[in-house]
Amino acid sequence: MGKTKVICFANNKGGSGKSTTCSNVGYGLTLLGKKVLLVDGDMQLNLSLSLFDEDKVLAFAQSERNLYEGIKRQDDLTDYIIHSAFENLDLIPSSTLMSSIEYELFTKWQREYILKKGLAKILESGVYDYILIDAPPTLGGWVMNILCASDEVIIPVESTPWGLFGLGNMFEFLEEVKQIAPDLKIGGVVITKVDTRKSYFKQTLEVLKELENVKVFDTVIRVDSGIEWSQDNHIPIMAYKKSSRSAKEYMELTKELAAGL
Ligand SMILES: Nc1ncnc2c1ncn2[C@@H]1O[C@H](COP(=O)(O)OP(=O)(O)O)[C@@H](O)[C@H]1O
Ligand SMILES: [Mg+2]
Repeated sequence: MGKTKVICFANNKGGSGKSTTCSNVGYGLTLLGKKVLLVDGDMQLNLSLSLFDEDKVLAFAQSERNLYEGIKRQDDLTDYIIHSAFENLDLIPSSTLMSSIEYELFTKWQREYILKKGLAKILESGVYDYILIDAPPTLGGWVMNILCASDEVIIPVESTPWGLFGLGNMFEFLEEVKQIAPDLKIGGVVITKVDTRKSYFKQTLEVLKELENVKVFDTVIRVDSGIEWSQDNHIPIMAYKKSSRSAKEYMELTKELAAGL
């Protein structure tokens, strides 16, 4: 049995494509024959909504089996796993109470490692090939937990001036985190929601090229309304419309990412 790889999707800029990339790469990995656990770390519940309808997601959020409760109780998170309708794709759902997770962490011993400890038994079991964690659009103690629990961080970036502006803060934060998580690897930057009719894409590539020692994925995810429809139906894009542009791009990205792991 191989080692479970833990990958998180983080960027303090909201709307950069973290949840969309996390869910679709997660499903893409199952299409490559892998077993995947998705972990929803954001109070917006978007990763949970990518697989389950609103009623179910709200029921998880109000139950005692969501990530917020697990972290608060410092439980082994194995008992918080929910099977999805998709083969080999499981989820630890989130809660809107995640908004007060920083407060919960504050009083805890070794508070940067609560998520890492919660995932330890799942890793030990070797059941999953990959655990993918969706981070909220913040930089603080909770995102630090997510990064400390991860082998690798992927940074989705929108091809806009403000999308690029926020990256500086993200990399500074990663430098800080590396002091307590020295093995954390920066897996790379994925450019998302690209509108090829706009000339700013070239500028984005120029700016990203200047980042030292950071891979920029060759696969670029373009704007596609199929993404919104697939999310409206709580189905990954490759299952919703396999022939769509974004389904092909997310499959390419999954392969590119898996090849580097
Ligand atoms: N390739 C795409 N084409 C069209 N819409 C997209 C695409 N990727 C993401 N979106 C939309 O953009 C919004 C932000 O994406 P999301 O993944 O939620 O970002 P984040 O998790 O970083 O906040 C969502 O409404 C999503 O539906
Ligand atoms: Mg999100």
